[in-house]
Amino acid sequence: MSSITANSTMRADRLKAVRPSMILGLVQKARQLKADGHPVIDLGIGEPDFETPQHVKDAAIKAIGNNETRYTIVPGTPAVRRAIIEKLERENRLIYRQDEISVSGGAKQVIYNAMASTLSPGDEVIIPAPYWSSYPDIVAIAEGRPVVVDCPQSQGFLISPEQLEKAITPLTKWLILNSPSNPTGGVYGSDHLEALADVLRCHPHVHILSDDIYEHLMFDGRCFTSLLNVAPDLKDRTLIVNGVSKAFAMTGWRIGYGAGPEDIVAAMNVVQGQSCTHACSISQAAAAAALSGPVDFFVERAARFQDRRDGVVAALNAIDGIDCLTPEGAFYVYPDCSGLIGMRTAAGRVLTSDTDICAWLLDEHHVSAVPGAAFGLSPHLRISTAACTDDLETACGRIAAACAELENVQ
Ligand SMILES: Cc1ncc(COP(=O)(O)O)c(C=O)c1O
Repeated sequence: MSSITANSTMRADRLKAVRPSMILGLVQKARQLKADGHPVIDLGIGEPDFETPQHVKDAAIKAIGNNETRYTIVPGTPAVRRAIIEKLERENRLIYRQDEISVSGGAKQVIYNAMASTLSPGDEVIIPAPYWSSYPDIVAIAEGRPVVVDCPQSQGFLISPEQLEKAITPLTKWLILNSPSNPTGGVYGSDHLEALADVLRCHPHVHILSDDIYEHLMFDGRCFTSLLNVAPDLKDRTLIVNGVSKAFAMTGWRIGYGAGPEDIVAAMNVVQGQSCTHACSISQAAAAAALSGPVDFFVERAARFQDRRDGVVAALNAIDGIDCLTPEGAFYVYPDCSGLIGMRTAAGRVLTSDTDICAWLLDEHHVSAVPGAAFGLSPHLRISTAACTDDLETACGRIAAACAELENVQ
């Protein structure tokens, strides 16, 4: 009988291509430093610093009182799917039926279910970089092949129609689009989406996963446009992914949803039915209340995030060695920090990468940011603006003071 002695023996081969989450590692380190008494400002996490609306909390308490505490059906209760359908029609002018909606434990699980239920080994998924760091790893767990397309700052971090055309092969199964983007705040406008749709029309085997989770955080008077608004003919191969985490400050409730073709949604429900069964019944009731309740605070919150963005972008651009594009949405900035590479810190450390820069900022200046390496495009920093203005000002001040002490050794 063979005995299993090491964890590495237990790990499935398909995990070999999966990286542990750099963001969660940094968050843990920042929290530990804080717990040890250091004045850390954490700009690493992508979590709104607002509270879940009171009427949503009340709906959850009511659901518990009503004993909505048993198993629900796999794709989600009829009530939450009805609320999603009404939201999609009201806010996005998109029409779906109940069997075209699947509710899961966060948008992340929706994406996981979609990849696990549609990818066969070697199938390709086009992911424009910088990307939300979970996309390639979810694809890898599903034994697909992430095809990462570099979209640098000079092109606004957006994939061009030419790049898309070049990346498509007979093995391409999905293109993942995320607008507004985590980590860059880049937004695809109607013209750009139409040009991408023209390419996609020539390749009917390619499906599109449209991650719209930051749709309500648009700046400078812009309106959110979904690919399906400009190309409704692509509806039979598009999966819309969304959730309540960001719009309603409900990250811990774990509710996301997918809206797409019935056969894809049915396949996703097979994965869900044999893994977590369904999203938490109480959270489903809360999400139904969120999606069908008042949303007037969206405008005010977007305005607050826009003010913070303006302050952070101006402060960062005043620093030698940092070059920050102005994001058009979401709550992140993604400055180029190539001007800091090769510099020597006051303690004699030479900064050789964005990972180095983030470690130095956290260890010595107590500001937590995430290196571009986590998002597939370096050297950059991702700084979350989901923090109060005082913290953002202090953090930018610390980064400026730290950079002022750097010595050029090249
Ligand atoms: C682009 C993007 N998609 C999906 C998610 C996952 O959100 P959820 O909390 O609903 O799983 C995130 C979370 O950071 C995100 O930034």
